[in-house]
Amino acid sequence: MKTITFDASRECMTGPEMTHLTRWWDHAVGYEIYIRSFADGDGDGIGDFAGLTERLDHLAWLGVDVVWITPFYPSPMADWGYDVADYTAVDDRFGSLDDVDACVARAHELGLKLIIDIVPNHSSDQHAWFQEARQGLDNPYRDHYIWADPAADGGPPNNWIGYFGGPAWTLDEASGQYYLHLFLPSQPDLNWRNPAVIDAFDDVLRFWLDRGVDGFRIDVAQALVKDRELRSNPQLGPWDETMYRWEQWDAFDHVHDILQPETVDIYRRWNRIAADYDALLLGETYDLHRLDGLDRLVSGGDALHVGFWFGAMHMDWNAEEIRSTFETPIRSISAGLGWAQNSHDEHRSVSRFGGGDLGRRRALTFALLLMGLPGVPFLYQGEELGLESGTLRPEDKLDPVGEANPSSGRDEARTPMTWEPVEGFGFSTGTPWLPYGGRQAADTVAVQRDDPDSWLNRHRRLIAVRKDLAEIAHAPFEWVETAPGVVAFRRHDVVFAANVSPSTVALDMGATVLFRTGAGDALELAPDEGAIVRLDPASMVT
Ligand code: GLC
Repeated sequence: MKTITFDASRECMTGPEMTHLTRWWDHAVGYEIYIRSFADGDGDGIGDFAGLTERLDHLAWLGVDVVWITPFYPSPMADWGYDVADYTAVDDRFGSLDDVDACVARAHELGLKLIIDIVPNHSSDQHAWFQEARQGLDNPYRDHYIWADPAADGGPPNNWIGYFGGPAWTLDEASGQYYLHLFLPSQPDLNWRNPAVIDAFDDVLRFWLDRGVDGFRIDVAQALVKDRELRSNPQLGPWDETMYRWEQWDAFDHVHDILQPETVDIYRRWNRIAADYDALLLGETYDLHRLDGLDRLVSGGDALHVGFWFGAMHMDWNAEEIRSTFETPIRSISAGLGWAQNSHDEHRSVSRFGGGDLGRRRALTFALLLMGLPGVPFLYQGEELGLESGTLRPEDKLDPVGEANPSSGRDEARTPMTWEPVEGFGFSTGTPWLPYGGRQAADTVAVQRDDPDSWLNRHRRLIAVRKDLAEIAHAPFEWVETAPGVVAFRRHDVVFAANVSPSTVALDMGATVLFRTGAGDALELAPDEGAIVRLDPASMVT
């Protein structure tokens, strides 16, 4: 057996700084809850804290360690909660502060950590700060946001575009200035060069940490600080507003709008606050190109603790792509990586990987690989059930991004969770805010719990096996060369392998199987199957 080693955890080589290797998230498995669609406690068709708290025992049973809850703040819901109108309150539709306290208490009782989404890049235009800022150039809150005079031709001040496509600037008729928004016009970007904004968010963090939350998932973590002079980005190719949103984004080299070096200073400050509470800072570090910039945000261990790598949501099912999806960030970022194949923002991986049972087999095998990588793997609600993207009619869709980007699939990933094989799937007794998307009884937690061979029980066993492998947490990452078409890597004495080829392959190594996605005991993998094996001491010589 040949191996190729990467220093996958620079941190662990640095001796004296090893203190941060023993944090509670070092070997954790995470789970994302999209609160609107998880469990509805009051029958209004919208998931809420009351429902969620009731269902937390499912997550304890599943074996995950940390739960991330998407935004629940008062919001006009233009972007379904990612447009926050008040950072220290709860939208009535989700419950009250007391309900948050009860949820935190129940999570802790069950041994779960609970982190919440914080949205610092932008607020809602209904936030009191923006309402004030709009009053005029002299308003004390004007500088909470990013304003600029029109270009000489009266158009936007520079060529920046938004993540949802289209120009990132909207003209405020009253003042004659444009304001910046990397998302919807109703999500104005905050000005992180203004100390008042920095101070305000220190208070927001402490507000929630004092209530007992265990950390934050930081929305759009790469983008907080913008170029001081608001310079245009170099253009790399043709751009127009009718292109698919990611094509629009990729038409520019984003050197001035995101990943500015000063952003790390914000997270260093937050890191000191988090340290008082032993809290986790998990960044939505969304960029697939500027690895040096991402590396700065996480690798020192003194800023973000973990940053998500999104390559796993943008790849096809073949050995080469899987390898490069893992190797690219491991080689360049090396510390503090978060991994996920699903989220509330992308079509579900079962559908992306081929759909039906083929897609389910692949998604489970891919989950097995993610469980072995250096960093924190996250599941997204329903992934444990092998759910495909929901099927929705165009008229059912509610995502503001969907209209211009029909294939974007955010609604399809957000259909309600399926708990029981009854009307309303145990999600709600009312009309759900988004249809169930064609789910069947076999898609529910209750039905799958009773079947030892279900996707749910297989995910549960996988998580349990990974939990017992604490020795891999800081072990180097080494590629293992076995049969062609097999993606395999080793951490300590454990090998994680997936057969991505169309034929059955034998794993040529002396080892004991700890977990396999399919059936059988032999060291053989059918197509799309994966296994975790422990090497016999004699096979450990590389
Ligand atoms: C993040 C969220 C996404 C939201 C966007 C703007 O990417 O995951 O749902 O639309 O930020 O806040």
